[in-house]
Amino acid sequence: MTELRRADFGPDFRFGVATSSYQIEGAVNEGGRGPSIWDRFTHTPGKIKGGHTGDVACDHYHRVEEDVALLGWLGVNAYRFSIAWPRVIPTGRGAVNQEGLDFYERLVDSVLARGIAPCVTLYHWDLPDALSGGWLSRETADAFAEYAAVVARRLGDRVALWFTHNEPWCQAFLGYEIGLFAPGHRNLSEALSCAHHLLLSHGLAVPALRAEVRAPIGLAPNFMPAHPATDSELDVRAARRLDGYFNRWFLEPVLGRGYPEDMLSLYGAHMPAVTSAEFETIAAPIDVLGVNYYERAVIAHDDAGGTLSIRRIDDTGLPRTADREIYPPGLAEVLRRLHFEYRVPSLVISENGAAYPDVLGGDGNVHDSARVDFFHNHLQEVLSVRREGVPVHGYFAWSLMDNFEWSEGYGMRYGIVHVDFETQKRTPKDSAHFYRKLLTLPATAP
Ligand code: FCB
Repeated sequence: MTELRRADFGPDFRFGVATSSYQIEGAVNEGGRGPSIWDRFTHTPGKIKGGHTGDVACDHYHRVEEDVALLGWLGVNAYRFSIAWPRVIPTGRGAVNQEGLDFYERLVDSVLARGIAPCVTLYHWDLPDALSGGWLSRETADAFAEYAAVVARRLGDRVALWFTHNEPWCQAFLGYEIGLFAPGHRNLSEALSCAHHLLLSHGLAVPALRAEVRAPIGLAPNFMPAHPATDSELDVRAARRLDGYFNRWFLEPVLGRGYPEDMLSLYGAHMPAVTSAEFETIAAPIDVLGVNYYERAVIAHDDAGGTLSIRRIDDTGLPRTADREIYPPGLAEVLRRLHFEYRVPSLVISENGAAYPDVLGGDGNVHDSARVDFFHNHLQEVLSVRREGVPVHGYFAWSLMDNFEWSEGYGMRYGIVHVDFETQKRTPKDSAHFYRKLLTLPATAP
């Protein structure tokens, strides 16, 4: 394994870790926070493995100082976290809860005090439950822009990077079509309506932020290369549909291209009414695109495979993490495409990471060598595309610590720091030591 050196990435490269509010904070009834759709969903029997909830999670709300100290120990120069909308505006719209803003202000200041750049995601799926209609209502898009402005007014002078949305595909399709995420609906028309309102809310929030801040603004969708199972015309077209469904659906409107035509004809009557004025709003210029990358998909044509007529091939023969195939070249493929095909001016890998069934060893450590290899091999890909001239300016490992992994509960561990959910003890895994070594060792051997 060739040794990576931090200096190879250039002096300004952001090396960070990422988390999200509902996955780590806990304290769901404290500090004036209102309920979110995830509180409701996790408390609905049968929705989450083991009946787990985010009520306590990593108890980060009470352990901010300890967790920020961990960031300092790691040597990262950036930290990506999300703000819980229901902490800031408990009913989604209207009265602002200053105590919620105080919490994030303390976090931002303490991160800054260690020389770490705070990078904010405004929406990582914890929608205030009080917003009636949720993302099916256009008013939620307006409410989001108001919330964005409230946060920017308090923190805008200190935050280094803004993302409006995290993975809108998950919110729209896992939340409204597949039912795996809150609010747990199963209806394609609803998913498309949600997607449209998410895009609108992004387009409304960008100028609202711009009026208050000078830092770069973007969003952080997830990208997944879609490869045909064979080179048959049918499979190639099937893979293209998955690409439209997953990757192009959010990217192209944001970049001013509107919705992909091939998908519009496939969705037909499921599409909500959309106007050209809305597309102008959605296409508000962004400065940076976050890229969440975990996996690729190998796709075959299948007449029985739902609206898209596709089937995903899981057994590709490649090694897997606890939940997916490992495919580092897919990250380079995504980054190249975003730059060479879509001309995105600046890219940041806003999430990349792997789950393994980690156990604390007898020596009190977690020897997650497969995760070390995972990070090493993906960082190698980042380096090679940078050398090809692709403007990648940062990398955030998912995640700082094990946390509430949505419908998987606490069983799926993505952290580089192990969390004992009984005692809340944090133990850096070997992958954390690997990252720290990369980030803190001198560029050249003495
Ligand atoms: C991403 C999510 C993040 C986490 C990782 C494993 O899709 O953005 O919250 O669940 O996957």
